[in-house]
Amino acid sequence: MPRSLKKVRLLSSREIQKRVGELARSISRDYQGRELVLVGVLNGAFIFLADLVKRMTIPVQVDFVRLSSYGSGSESRGRITVSKPAELPLAGKSVLIVEDIIDTGLTLDFLSRSLQEQHPESIRICALVDKSERRKLPVSLDYTGFVVPSGFIVGYGLDFDEQFRQLPAIYRLEETLDPGAIRADSMPPM
Ligand code: XMP
Ligand code: MG
Repeated sequence: MPRSLKKVRLLSSREIQKRVGELARSISRDYQGRELVLVGVLNGAFIFLADLVKRMTIPVQVDFVRLSSYGSGSESRGRITVSKPAELPLAGKSVLIVEDIIDTGLTLDFLSRSLQEQHPESIRICALVDKSERRKLPVSLDYTGFVVPSGFIVGYGLDFDEQFRQLPAIYRLEETLDPGAIRADSMPPM
């Protein structure tokens, strides 16, 4: 029997917006007087970064990187490459990586090491969701939106097979026998 998925709401748009406002306030306070560059990780972080930057009260530059991990699965699998590098000069700047979700930590570990080569003044990390249960490499997050222990989540930039990024809330995908639900022949890691 084909596997199907249903969406169960985990975080409302209101909860997300409130938390993003709090993060923007902390970041604006901590980086006062410094040359801050936000580096968003495409595609997942695009909505989070846009909402965050609109609420910041200090000058800030914005750039994006895009990473590819071997295969097109929903979990990074070791071999990661940069498919779009950051284009702003980062030497001497305060860099804040903005990620949608940290899972195993492999992507972030790779990205921090690769940005380090440009000798920024500092590199810190802001993630909307810390999915802590499957961590393989220790990552110290400086700003965390929400901690979600496990499950595959979509919405607010996060996708399953490029679907659901546009949703203003965040949902957990769960298996169901309902034949009208989303068909999923290759399930994401739960
Ligand atoms: P790692 O494991 O390297 O992976 O920390 C982070 C990347 O894996 C993807 N990912 C998810 N994407 N819902 C998603 O839409 C999830 O629950 C999820 N878990 C991991 C995502 O691309 C993230 O940047
Ligand atoms: Mg991502």
